[in-house]
Amino acid sequence: MAKVMIVDDELMITQTLTQLIELMLDVEVHAFNDPLAVVESGVLKEHQFDVVISDFMMPKLSGIQFLKAFKEVQPEVVPILLTGYSDKENAIKSINEVGLYYYLEKPWDNNEIIKVIQNGLEKKALKEQIRLDMYEITRLYDLLKKDFTRELDNIVDVVVALANLVEAKDSYTDGHTRRVADLCGLLGRGMNLPDETIRNLEISGIIHDVGKVGTPEAILNKPGALDNKEFYIMKHHPEIGAKILRPLSALEPCLHAVRHHHEKLDGSGYPDGLTAEQIPLETRIVAIADIFDALYSDRPYRAKMPIEKAMSIIQSEADRGTLDAQVVQLLQQLVSSGEIARLYSEA
Ligand SMILES: [Fe+2]
Repeated sequence: MAKVMIVDDELMITQTLTQLIELMLDVEVHAFNDPLAVVESGVLKEHQFDVVISDFMMPKLSGIQFLKAFKEVQPEVVPILLTGYSDKENAIKSINEVGLYYYLEKPWDNNEIIKVIQNGLEKKALKEQIRLDMYEITRLYDLLKKDFTRELDNIVDVVVALANLVEAKDSYTDGHTRRVADLCGLLGRGMNLPDETIRNLEISGIIHDVGKVGTPEAILNKPGALDNKEFYIMKHHPEIGAKILRPLSALEPCLHAVRHHHEKLDGSGYPDGLTAEQIPLETRIVAIADIFDALYSDRPYRAKMPIEKAMSIIQSEADRGTLDAQVVQLLQQLVSSGEIARLYSEA
């Protein structure tokens, strides 16, 4: 259960706030009236807190001094300051000193304080998720390095293994990377690109979603649309993928597509909001192959679309200026000639 600490030298305030928070939220509340005693006792070693709410003006230790001392022991805690109206100016000046999440004025509004604590708890949970993602990435990175020292002659084998790992986590991607790779190859050949570029396009297709190793399975397999928080976590996967693959110099030509396969030509994509002139043809091809396969295969929350519907969505995106019109035109030709149907029946 999440833990919240309240510190205020007035007993009435800690009592009222404790009652309110315990009534409204499913958290464990620890309240104290002497900030110095909290710092000097072992409570911060015994309990890990998610949110701390501190009064500003207190004898012995000010709210800022207290929060500073608190964050030295628990740097991840989300700190909230409670100030009297007359202390407001001084409190605002100190905000940066402790990386304050929020300050509230006394007398507080019950709904507001609960909302702020709730948001603070969510922020803390998100930070924790990102910390776990980073742990997973470091672990995989070490694995890859170990494989390197065993002098694997084909780096692609390692990366295919990594892509398979993602597919094992994500029920919808079953076969997705292979199909995106094949589509990329088909589109590259259709555009008469050099063999080496086509090879890199196929590898990009396989590895484009490798960063999903850092996305929780509950999000990858959610049967329904993602909420804002889940989408925020999901949107990290292109950056995570590029970070994982960066040390592998053989994959350098594919890194752009990995990091930017969710960018849109009009700048509305992620993670960097790149615009048309910053998005090379290879990345545009991977983006279109990825979207086509996502529409033309079963997802956790809907069945595969008819090919005409998938193409009409992609065509309207090209008309809106988010996808490359030439690549979409070629894809349409490949659909009309039956080439795409053949690829999917073989896959
Ligand atoms: Fe992706």
